[in-house]
Amino acid sequence: MTDWNSETNLKDQLSFNGNQKIWAIGGGKGGVGKSLVTANLSICLSLMGYKVVAIDLDLGGANLHTCLGVPIPEKTLSDYLTKKVRTLEELLTPTPIQNLSIISGAQDDVGIANLKHMQKAKILSKIRNLDADFVLMDLGAGTTFNTLDFFISADQGILTALPEPTSIENTYRFIKSVYHRKLKMAEDLLEVGPLIDQAMNARLNNNATPSELIEKVIEINPQMGHKLKAEIQSFIPKLVINQVRTQADIDIGFSMKIICKKYFGINLDYIGYLEYDATVWQSVKKRRPLLMEFPNSALVSNFDRIVHRLLKI
Ligand SMILES: Nc1ncnc2c1ncn2[C@@H]1O[C@H](COP(=O)(O)OP(=O)(O)O)[C@@H](O)[C@H]1O
Ligand SMILES: [Mg+2]
Repeated sequence: MTDWNSETNLKDQLSFNGNQKIWAIGGGKGGVGKSLVTANLSICLSLMGYKVVAIDLDLGGANLHTCLGVPIPEKTLSDYLTKKVRTLEELLTPTPIQNLSIISGAQDDVGIANLKHMQKAKILSKIRNLDADFVLMDLGAGTTFNTLDFFISADQGILTALPEPTSIENTYRFIKSVYHRKLKMAEDLLEVGPLIDQAMNARLNNNATPSELIEKVIEINPQMGHKLKAEIQSFIPKLVINQVRTQADIDIGFSMKIICKKYFGINLDYIGYLEYDATVWQSVKKRRPLLMEFPNSALVSNFDRIVHRLLKI
């Protein structure tokens, strides 16, 4: 098996400068463990002494508060969007864990799915200004533009998947959607739209993969092509495989990494797995955060490894 710590080095440690504060947790569908991951990574970071805010941006299935052991907060992002409260700070609700507060998502139609571009940009800039070392965003299921944009704008984008075909397919779909959104943004930024069209036309009958497309752009215009490639390559989503039961389940992450490289030219960073553990259900039922209720469960060391990997320490 691959050594999880092999990529850690001093340079990486030094480059952790505290600016990498927004982490987004997404994945193609509901029930794959996004809230569990958001809640427990948040807890790990707060136990390390960091000040953390966890934000529930899952409209349809907001349950982050349950994983953190708090009732639905009274004030939610809806109140901010409808201007009932003026600042995001007014939405901060404390949790039983020191250093960790939660902002609850919009509960009605004034939701994330319908955010206008300006509102989204505003929320993102306010999130960046929150007085916290880390802000973790629990994203909704699906691939709406807003969910993709929150994922892309984060400093670290973390994908959660289950070791089963539908979830794996959904994860590829999510990555592909992010890739296209990212390509579109790079296109606008670098003004290479016509170049990409030209490359697409040249490849029309070939069913080119995204990475072949970029190679074609490089052939047509090496300078712009390389810029585009660099822009796309700066995007390194992280992957967590949740609810693993066997070594074969664990290995799925490595296969997904290879496939992403081959077909999308994307470096997927497989940062770890979480074992299937019945105590999750018990802690959810008791409305107690997993890491606090079962500090000796195998999941605790799984989370510990993932958080260290993310912090590169
Ligand atoms: N590693 C795990 N072991 C056991 N059960 C899990 C695990 N991860 C998630 N679950 C179960 O799956 C349910 C869905 O997880 P959740 O984090 O709410 O998913 P999402 O936020 O993606 O919809 C949880 O209520 C929990 O009972
Ligand atoms: Mg959820």
